[in-house]
Amino acid sequence: MGRKRDIIIKGFSKLLKEDKLKLVAEYFENPGEVIELLKSFWHSDESQQKLFDEFSENTITNFIIPYGIAPNVIINGRNYLVPMVIEESSVVAAASAAAKFWSERGGFKSEVVSTKKIGQVHFIWKGATTVLTGLMPALKERLRSDSAHITANMEKRGGGIIDISLVDMTDRIDHYYQLMVSFETRDSMGANFINSVLEEFAQSLKVFLSEQIHLDLESRQCEIIMAILSNFTPECLVRTWVECPLEQLDNVDEKLDGEAFARKFETAVRIAEVDVYRATTHNKGIYNGIDAVAIATGNDFRAIEAAGHAYAASGGQYKSLSHVEISDGMFRFVLEVPLAMGTVGGLTSLHPLAKQSLELLGNPTAPELMMIASAMGLANNFSAVKSLTTKGIQAGHMKMHLFNILNHFKASDAEKNAAVEHFKDQKVSFASVGQYIASLRR
Ligand code: MEV
Repeated sequence: MGRKRDIIIKGFSKLLKEDKLKLVAEYFENPGEVIELLKSFWHSDESQQKLFDEFSENTITNFIIPYGIAPNVIINGRNYLVPMVIEESSVVAAASAAAKFWSERGGFKSEVVSTKKIGQVHFIWKGATTVLTGLMPALKERLRSDSAHITANMEKRGGGIIDISLVDMTDRIDHYYQLMVSFETRDSMGANFINSVLEEFAQSLKVFLSEQIHLDLESRQCEIIMAILSNFTPECLVRTWVECPLEQLDNVDEKLDGEAFARKFETAVRIAEVDVYRATTHNKGIYNGIDAVAIATGNDFRAIEAAGHAYAASGGQYKSLSHVEISDGMFRFVLEVPLAMGTVGGLTSLHPLAKQSLELLGNPTAPELMMIASAMGLANNFSAVKSLTTKGIQAGHMKMHLFNILNHFKASDAEKNAAVEHFKDQKVSFASVGQYIASLRR
């Protein structure tokens, strides 16, 4: 009959996994089948399954997303096989096609511009700003010494706190200040390190102020609102580009010569620089590539995307993250994007496939991974804009989507093979595939 949905569940997290599964199954008409289905996605190795269960909370099964490979990705002369985890058909194909195309034209060039990360302690202080400014040199020293037990290891790896400054925000919110802290976290994404340091700072700030006995009572107190890293990392930046003489674009489209194609492509990118509707889709195409690498390597794609979209809007208008330059007979397509990624810590070595992905990439440093992920962003962006400005997106997209449609109609292997042959020169749509399968079955 199905469980009543308006009942508040108490103590769900305390239940055993099997009991959580049973409880959830009660919300379906056919609980037995649901339990069987969900269990069929459990890992056959119990210890592996336990590992996955412990990544998150209230886990009842695993959600499988395809893991694909884009080969021939040449970056700064080095050839990579790039792992991509993504559910959307045609993303890996588009990335692979662009990688192959550019491998014949010098490959991707990439440079890491900077690797700084930011964290903030947000607090309310009711004294005079000049007093706080005057206390800063002593406070900074205190913050550094109080957090030395956390930073020692990171310093051994060449990282740590870069700078601490006071930001006066009292013109926006009464008595509101920030300690703005910049960090170098080497090969780790550094979220836990940064947040631990910031929480220590918050404590130290309170104690430090309380010790300033020459100040009035109110100025010896502050209210800590929060201490947290910022996912906006405009100074953890990578620049990646492809370039070639215009005539090397001659065969991209049968109707356009290299220069005409380049100009049309440039206009399409310009549109994403001036129109937010297009810019959002354009950048989404970039994150198709970047997110897929982020997930495959155990990185936090939400943080990466949040940074990118904030960066895209940092000039006051949300714009394309990539740009085209055409000069002296050369076409140049550039992506500049903040990418706070890690190759140690977090899930990178815990998730067996993330670990494997990093090994496949030759165990890169974090800056090298920034270059790889941005190259895949640029690759997907290039393929998308190339298709959009030539044959349109649906031709390729629907060809790749064909298997999804066939699976929807529960096509057998023989039907799939016949359909692939049939749709080589036919337009793929949900309706046309449905009709074709029906005709086969008649
Ligand atoms: C689809 O996932 C991504 C595209 O829409 C990107 C774009 O339009 O540039 C094809």
